[in-house]
This record gives sequence, structure tokens and C-alpha cells, in this order.
Amino acid sequence: MDVSSINQYIGKLAVITGASAGIGAALTTNLARRGINVVGLARRIEKVQELAKENTKGKIYAIKCDITNEQDVIRAFQEIEKLGPIHILINNAGKIANTTLYNGNVDEWKKVLDVNVIGTCLLSREVVRTMTENNVAGQIININSILGHFKYDTPLNIYPASKFALTSLTETLRLELIGIDSKIKLTVLKIIYNNIFRCILSNIFRV
Ligand SMILES: NC(=O)c1ccc[n+]([C@@H]2O[C@H](COP(=O)([O-])OP(=O)(O)OC[C@H]3O[C@@H](n4cnc5c(N)ncnc54)[C@H](OP(=O)(O)O)[C@@H]3O)[C@@H](O)[C@H]2O)c1
Repeated sequence: MDVSSINQYIGKLAVITGASAGIGAALTTNLARRGINVVGLARRIEKVQELAKENTKGKIYAIKCDITNEQDVIRAFQEIEKLGPIHILINNAGKIANTTLYNGNVDEWKKVLDVNVIGTCLLSREVVRTMTENNVAGQIININSILGHFKYDTPLNIYPASKFALTSLTETLRLELIGIDSKIKLTVLKIIYNNIFRCILSNIFRV
């Protein structure tokens, strides 16, 4: 998919889930440095507030949100919408469980599915609603894994299944958006977190 230049988003608002650590924190800081205003969602809000201390061109806002909790997500969107229309959503929050399938813990399996699958659906639903209401032809970017596209010998219990589900639901949402004649763009990234990942992001945003 063709994703337009990042420059068109300078001064606009992006929402990134899982902004308190890892890839989400790096994306939050990097987009803000380029002049995009970023709302970072996470449960550990203090970690996002730390990022906001850097003097970036774009502002960083920290909003506490457990993306597996529908009321939390709805409340977070009410706060975000006061800041302005959302142009980018990056569904980045993800979870891996320390368990097994042959002898595993159901609660741990459900937590992974709740974050990686249901959380992504909730955020996507809310952002499609608000982008549509504001007539914004925005971007939804789902951070996936190569484990959601190909079979690898990695015994990560339910995680690869959750990422295959993300691949599938991205395509389903794409069809739904076409069905309602939406101009919202949907992208899925297969991440291996290393320099290749940074190159992929550079390509997508043409920076
Ligand atoms: N790192 C890799 O090598 C790699 C490779 C392939 C794909 N990926 C994918 O890239 C994404 C980011 O990975 P990462 O390694 O950067 O993750 P990470 O360092 O483990 O951070 C996970 C993030 O998700 C957030 N999160 C987890 N549960 C949440 C919940 N219920 N509500 C809100 N936020 C929640 C965490 O925030 P709080 O705990 O503060 O809520 C944290 O900010 C994931 O989707 C992952 O599957 C990563």
C-alpha cells in the first residue's frame, strides 16, 4: 500500500498504543520530533509522561488507557477528541505470555488475545468512527510480526495465532472500509525489531 509522505501530518494528531515502552515509545518520540502531535496510550502513563519531557517539535500527550477495557478506550477517545481530529492511529500495543499450549494457563492466553486482537479492534472501531465524523482520510497502521504471516519454529504459545488473527482482521477491516466507501488507509507492518525495522518505517513515511 502506498502511504503518503509524513510531512502532510506535521501539526496533526497521531495516536499510538503501547507508547510506554519499546517500539511504541520509539515511534512516539520520533513522530513528535518530526512535528506530529502524538497521544501515547498505555497503562504506565508515567513512562509516556517521561517521553513528553523532551523538547520535541510536536507535542506528546500521555493518556492512561487499558486497551482491553472498552470503557477505558471510549473515555480515552473522549479526551483525545478534545485535542483535535485524529489523522493516524498506530495499533502497536502487544503482549506475549510466558506459558505453553500443551500445559498452559487460560487466563494468560486470554490476556494475549485481549491485547493483540480485541484491543486492536476496539481502537480501530473508535478511530474509524471519529475519522469518519471529522471527514479525515486518515491512516491506521497495525504493528504485526513476521510470526503473523509465516510459520517459524518459535514456541510462543498463543502469540503467533494472535498475530495471524491481526493479519486476518486487518484484511477484513479493509473490506469493510471499502464497503462503506471510506477514504481511511490501512497498513500492516511485519516487524522484526532491528535496523531493518527502522528502514521499513523510513520507507513508509519517506523520511
Ligand atoms: N520487539 C520485537 O522484537 C517485536 C517483533 C515483532 C513484532 N513486535 C510487535 O511490536 C509491538 C510492540 O512490541 P514491543 O516489543 O515494543 O513491546 P513491549 O516493549 O513489550 O511493550 C508493549 C507495550 O504494549 C503496552 N500494552 C500491553 N498491554 C496493554 C494494555 N492492556 N493496554 C494498553 N497498553 C498495553 C505496554 O504498555 P503498558 O504496560 O504501560 O500498558 C507497552 O507499552 C507489539 O505489537 C509486538 O507484537 C515486536
